[in-house]
Amino acid sequence: MKKAKIGFIGGGNMAGSLIKGLIADSYPADDIWVSDPDESKLKAYRDQLGVNATIDNDELVNEVSVVVLAVKPQILKPVSMGIKEAVKKSAPLVVSIAAGIRSKDIANWLGGDVAIVRCMPNTPALVGSGATGLYANEQVSAEQNDQAESIMRSVGLIVWLDDEQLLDAVTAVSGSGPAYYFLMMEAMEKVAVEMGISQESARLLVQQTAFGAAKLAMEASDSPETLRVKVTSPGGTTERAISSFEGDDFRKIVRSALVAAQNRSAELSDELGG
Ligand SMILES: NC(=O)c1ccc[n+]([C@@H]2O[C@H](COP(=O)([O-])OP(=O)(O)OC[C@H]3O[C@@H](n4cnc5c(N)ncnc54)[C@H](OP(=O)(O)O)[C@@H]3O)[C@@H](O)[C@H]2O)c1
Repeated sequence: MKKAKIGFIGGGNMAGSLIKGLIADSYPADDIWVSDPDESKLKAYRDQLGVNATIDNDELVNEVSVVVLAVKPQILKPVSMGIKEAVKKSAPLVVSIAAGIRSKDIANWLGGDVAIVRCMPNTPALVGSGATGLYANEQVSAEQNDQAESIMRSVGLIVWLDDEQLLDAVTAVSGSGPAYYFLMMEAMEKVAVEMGISQESARLLVQQTAFGAAKLAMEASDSPETLRVKVTSPGGTTERAISSFEGDDFRKIVRSALVAAQNRSAELSDELGG
């Protein structure tokens, strides 16, 4: 089957990761377009990845059947309004990875009746291990669903949502989630150094422990709770640590943080949309 031509508006970090992911997935570079105001970035895309690159967003829209909006949320409105006429003419699938902007706002800026898939990726997409929540509006066809899915799958795992509001929860869980783990790693590393382990060894031990725990949780059939109980011998060191966490109300701390992120995501949608 002939692959759809995909165009990325905004050639920054996320677009770069997605384009590299698609090419690693055997997507023909010739079927990929990118637009950006920075000529030096465009040259690098052409020279290093062999994709088509232009400074003109309208030219890109005219060339492709899937347009990925990969600019910062703060400029999505003018960028969308700028390509409105071209989108009206070619009726592409529009995939937005901009955090917080609701599909109805994007549709309004693009002139109304547009097929839109809104995605919430996270930073591990930069190393091919992202987690992305996707929501499709009513205009998206089954074929377009597959197209959006295969783009985001090229940089990690995907989960479909049937209610757009859930993207605020996805933002709180996986969108912002990597930073929660970094905070935990930062805190563990600091204590390890205080306990006398060298900085270099502390970092390695903490990184490998985070990686190993995640790998084990993904490969084992047990739930995280069962895995935790299995490594917690009665009267042992892990039990002492877990009971210290529980005594400090760890679960409440996690709940408050995630609810705060979810609320902020909804607030940002109100601020940036409309
Ligand atoms: N990075 C992440 O982990 C992450 C996670 C989830 C969602 N997202 C979403 O992904 C989107 C992109 O994020 P990013 O981190 O990749 O941002 P980024 O690196 O700043 O990329 C955005 C690119 O768009 C370019 N641009 C600016 N104005 C443009 C225009 N009028 N037409 C075309 N391109 C234009 C920018 O050029 P200049 O630099 O010259 O302005 C920049 O190269 C954001 O909406 C963000 O919310 C990112």
